[in-house]
Amino acid sequence: MLKLPGLIDPHVHVREPGATHKEDWDTVTQAALAGGVTTILAMPNTKPPIFDEATLNLALDAAKAKARCDYGQYIGAGPDNGDWDKREALSLQAAGLKMYLDSTFGELRLDDMSLWTPHFQKFPKDSPMVMHSESRTMAAAILFSTIYDHPVHIAHVSLKEEILLIKAAKEKGIKVTCEVCPHHLFLDKDLTGFKNLSGLTSGRTEVRPRLATPEDVQSLWINLDVIDCFATDHAPHTLEEKDSDNPPPGFPGLETMLPLLLTAVDEGRLTINHLIEKLHTNPKRIFNLPDQPETWVEVDENASYEIKASETFTRCGWTPFEGWQVKGKVRKVVLRGKTAFEDGKILAEPGCGKNIRS
Ligand code: NCD
Ligand code: ZN
Repeated sequence: MLKLPGLIDPHVHVREPGATHKEDWDTVTQAALAGGVTTILAMPNTKPPIFDEATLNLALDAAKAKARCDYGQYIGAGPDNGDWDKREALSLQAAGLKMYLDSTFGELRLDDMSLWTPHFQKFPKDSPMVMHSESRTMAAAILFSTIYDHPVHIAHVSLKEEILLIKAAKEKGIKVTCEVCPHHLFLDKDLTGFKNLSGLTSGRTEVRPRLATPEDVQSLWINLDVIDCFATDHAPHTLEEKDSDNPPPGFPGLETMLPLLLTAVDEGRLTINHLIEKLHTNPKRIFNLPDQPETWVEVDENASYEIKASETFTRCGWTPFEGWQVKGKVRKVVLRGKTAFEDGKILAEPGCGKNIRS
């Protein structure tokens, strides 16, 4: 039996408010616990998007009533809410500021670079700023971070050119950190990794950033030391939506991240120390998270099993990793002294999760 600290996932789409047929604060935190995750940071691209006091409270009230693990809620950067100097208390209630600098699913988007400036200037210096920025936009975000002297965290890095630029920026002493998602480590645009190709609609391969080339995937593995965090970008949509004519991008990921990574450890591609560093130590530091006393995850590192969506807790009902044979099963999760998950059963009650900023 392997004992890990409570894992932290800094990139989760909860879907509440607004799209609870995909997921809500109850189901997403059940999925988190089943995956060994005891803290999630929730993205603001909900309906309505989270961008001011009223909408932040909408999300936090739902979380308070329903969450079964600890949580934080990001606030989104919009065209009109860059005056953080006038609303410092509000900014400190959020997990951090999420900036969508590229096209995305939802309404929060900053198409014009002049809209970035007030956020970089006025968001509190010690509070995390997370960028959805791909390729050249990422380079621009790193430049903004140096000009305005605010550290940035780059979400879901997927390309070789991106990881190499972050490596070079870190070597220059620029305060940039980054995360990589399991689907960008284990799947690629040639559909390597998808098991049932005959039943695969194009919608089920849609995710942002898109699945990349095998060379990009390889570069992420080669540059593991540049990766600060693993994050799921858990983005649940129903199969009906994914198989429709206009499929939304996104994969669920909370319940598959740890078994996939433990399988990579078993194969010698990764170490347990990498896991602890990128799923606990680094995200805890980068996002200024409080201690979770008496919290741990027990994993049977020798248990092999097949990933089946029918056995998951997420409401979306599917996974791109269907049929994968993995080694490493979460047996038990203890959160602040109480058993929250054991042998496939959720024991934590709705509402027992704590806001990491309260
Ligand atoms: C995200 C979602 O579904 O909310 N989808 C995704 O593919 N990652 C939105 C986004 O990050 O663009
Ligand atoms: Zn996302």
